[in-house]
Amino acid sequence: MEQLTSYLESNKERFLEELKELVRIPSVSADPKFKDEVARTAEFVAQKLKSAGCEQVEICQTAGHPIVYGERIIDPSRPTILVYGHYDVQPADPLELWDSGPFDPIVKKTELHPEGALFARGACDDKGQMYMHVKAFENMVAHDLLPCNVKFMIEGEEEVGSDNLGPFLEKEQERLACDVIVISDTSMIANDVPSITTGLRGLSYVEVEVTGPNRDLHSGVYGGAVGNPVNILSKMIASLHDENNKITIPGFYEDVLAVDDSERTQMNQAPFSIEYYKSDLEIGDIRGEKGYTTLERTSIRPTLDVNGMWGGYIGEGAKTVLPSKAFAKISMRLVPNQHPDKITTLFEEHFKKIAPESVNVVVKPHHGGHPVVTPTDSVEYKAAARAYKETFGKDPIPQRSGGSIPIVALFEKILGVKTVLMGFGLDSDAIHSPNEHFGLYNYYKGIETIPYFYKYYTEMKEEIA
Ligand code: BES
Ligand code: MN
Ligand code: MN
Repeated sequence: MEQLTSYLESNKERFLEELKELVRIPSVSADPKFKDEVARTAEFVAQKLKSAGCEQVEICQTAGHPIVYGERIIDPSRPTILVYGHYDVQPADPLELWDSGPFDPIVKKTELHPEGALFARGACDDKGQMYMHVKAFENMVAHDLLPCNVKFMIEGEEEVGSDNLGPFLEKEQERLACDVIVISDTSMIANDVPSITTGLRGLSYVEVEVTGPNRDLHSGVYGGAVGNPVNILSKMIASLHDENNKITIPGFYEDVLAVDDSERTQMNQAPFSIEYYKSDLEIGDIRGEKGYTTLERTSIRPTLDVNGMWGGYIGEGAKTVLPSKAFAKISMRLVPNQHPDKITTLFEEHFKKIAPESVNVVVKPHHGGHPVVTPTDSVEYKAAARAYKETFGKDPIPQRSGGSIPIVALFEKILGVKTVLMGFGLDSDAIHSPNEHFGLYNYYKGIETIPYFYKYYTEMKEEIA
């Protein structure tokens, strides 16, 4: 393993330059304008997998953006690790809030990243974290220290719901056969507090359209006599939480699996400063469901949030108009045992029921996903924990995350394989936001830690076999 360390040390600059090259390609999956750039990114990833040592590299076309597949089989009788990641990124908007171009990577120091962080869209989510695996793999192959078989599946549609990945899993079950899936697409508590993600929330995402009169009206001539869809939508949305910030949709909490007190106590022992949290976000106070801590609210409890809302005149100056329509995009984060389709139905029924006669409501479901929890007594968790211990000098803390990676539930359902979530980002890395960044410490720590996971996982797996 010493060879790996010295190789990493002497190649740090190149590893960073390659990541810069990768984040320079604007692979925004949501916007058809970037289709060619997304394809170019797939080619870049395929090329890098090949030069790192993958033997069967293929860019698999789908109905949407391509999936990059690559493998290196050293011995079919040995364990196989499948690395999943995504090379697509969120749109960079709002552009004016970036301090530097979202696709012009630069390294800057921050309070939490005194060694410097790479600023660019995708630096952390997920190009930087995915690329750690490619470099760790390159390192193992270069020193003939790859202990097991490896398969890479890097997709280009994670940020838009992975619609084509499910069918790909069904079709390619044989090729994707593996013992465990490893993903670096989550965060850890702090650079000196390593953690392993043991849960992801599910997701139900809907768009609502509220229509009042059949056309925009003069707000003086008609105002006061005709239901204003923007006023009404605001009121309907406001009613979705009660005075304790509980969600009011009947049946919403029905299937929620309660977390027992001992686990809650344990999860609240994770280092967390509410003062830092507030000052980082520049908020006067936090707000959330009564009876739960911030750590609980962002992990074991479901939520409902408006992600965007529009309607009427939003241009320069004042136009007096009573709009015909109002819209909102609403996400609900789900916890174990809640079913995304059921929640979507409950939402739709309730939302239509609370609408007054003066408007008409249409609810359009978007993508959804099931929540996941992963055990801490599995071989993969233990191997990952040993790897962190080795490189961070500390035992990692298991922590459930608030984000969603819907495909993880499908890995288990379709491939019958469990996932270990080894994320190296920080929650404050501004993923999906302006000024997204990824600490260089984190990038290199990931590259250093991954080979230990391979080593311990293989050893432990072969020991029980
Ligand atoms: N990598 C994130 C998920 C994430 C981030 C999990 C931080 C844990 C901690 C992923 O790329 C993502 O953004 N997922 C989306 C859902 C998807 C269906 C668009 C999300 O969580 O909003
Ligand atoms: Mn991601
Ligand atoms: Mn994301």
